[in-house]
Amino acid sequence: MAFMEDSKIFKNQDILSSEYLPDMLPHRENQIKLLADNLEPANRGMKPQNTFVFGSSGIGKTAATKYVFRKFEDYSGIKTVYLNCWDYNTSLAVLAKLVSEFGFFVQRRGWAKDEVIERLIEALQKSKKSLLICLDEVDQLINKDQKLLYDLLRMNQYVKNPIGLIFISNNPHAFVNLEPRITSSLSLDEIEFKPYTLEEMKDILKERASNGFRSIEEGVVALASAHALNKHGDVRVGLECLMKAGRLAEQENSDKVLVEHVRKVLKDVKQVKPEILKEKINDTEKVIVGIVENKHRLSFDQLYDEYCESVDEPLTRRMFREYVNHLDEIKLIKIMQKKIGNSRIISKV
Ligand SMILES: Nc1ncnc2c1ncn2[C@@H]1O[C@H](COP(=O)(O)OP(=O)(O)OP(=O)(O)O)[C@@H](O)[C@H]1O
Ligand SMILES: [Mg+2]
Repeated sequence: MAFMEDSKIFKNQDILSSEYLPDMLPHRENQIKLLADNLEPANRGMKPQNTFVFGSSGIGKTAATKYVFRKFEDYSGIKTVYLNCWDYNTSLAVLAKLVSEFGFFVQRRGWAKDEVIERLIEALQKSKKSLLICLDEVDQLINKDQKLLYDLLRMNQYVKNPIGLIFISNNPHAFVNLEPRITSSLSLDEIEFKPYTLEEMKDILKERASNGFRSIEEGVVALASAHALNKHGDVRVGLECLMKAGRLAEQENSDKVLVEHVRKVLKDVKQVKPEILKEKINDTEKVIVGIVENKHRLSFDQLYDEYCESVDEPLTRRMFREYVNHLDEIKLIKIMQKKIGNSRIISKV
C-alpha cells in the first residue's frame, strides 16, 4: 500500500524508491525539451530525430526518457516501447518484444527473425501511428548484435510513419565501433546529461522527501545530498539514505526523520549501480567478480587459473578474456596498465 495511514514517518514510501517515476524532474527541463523536440515530428507522421542520451549513473537519463515517452503516449497516443538491453540483448529478443507489444503472441524460439520483422511491419502499417523505441543501456546490445539497428532502420522503407530511436548509455563512446554505414543512417543527435551539483541534488531530494515523508528535521536532505555527491552523484544513493533513515526513525518510534538517523545509516549506503549490475551479469562473470573481490588484485593469468579451479567446465582463455573486458567496461573490475610478467593486473574497483 502506497499511502501509509498508520506510519508516523512515511506519507508515501514508494516515492522514495528509485523505481518511482516522479511527475516532476527538477533540473532536467532542458534535456526533456531537447528530447521532446527531437521526437515531435512523430506527431505529424514525420521522421523523428534519432537521439543518443549519455551520462554517468543515476542522473535521470532513464527517468527523463520515460517521462517524455509518457507524455507522448498521453497527449499524442503515440506508441512507445522502452527496453533495457540487459534484458533484451539480441535482435530477435528485441524484435519479438516489439511485436508482442502490438498484441501478437510470439514464441521466442519459434519464429525466424524475418517472420518477426514481417509481423512488426504489418502491425505498424495497421496502427497508422509512429513508434518510438528506447533502447536503454544500449552498449549491452551493440557489443553483441549490431544487426538490430540495421533491421530497424531498414523497416522504415516499408512503413508510412518512421520509427524513432532513443539510445541511452553511460558510455559516451558506445557507438564508436558501429559499422560506419549504420552510424550514418542513424544520424544521431546527442544529448549529454551532466552530473547534478550539490544544490541541484538538494532540490531533487527535497521534492522527493516532501512527498515521501510526513515530517523531517532541517538538514536531513542536505546530508543525504552530500553523501550522494560523494558516491559519484547518483540520486539513487540519496534516495536510499532517505529511505533507510526513514525506516530507522520508524523503528525508534521517532516523530520525524532526524539528521541523526541519516548519519547512522550513511555507512550502509554504498554506490548503487554496481549492486544492480552484479545481479545482471552472467554466471561466469559472477565467478570472476567474486574472485577479484576476494583477492583485491591479481594478474590475468592468476585470475584465469583461479577461475579454472573454481568451475567444472572452464571457458577457453579467449572467451574468458572477453568477459573480463566486459566487466572492466561496466566498471565492476579494473584492468590496470601495470603488468606482472606479460599479464595485466586486474583489481577491485
Ligand atoms: N531530476 C530529477 N528529479 C527527480 N528524481 C530524479 C531526477 N534525476 C534522477 N532522479 C531519480 O534518480 C533515480 C535514478 O535516475 P535514473 O534511473 O534516471 O538514472 P540513470 O541516469 O538512468 O542512471 P543509470 O545510467 O545508472 O541507469 C530515479 O529514481 C530517478 O527518479
Ligand atoms: Mg538508466
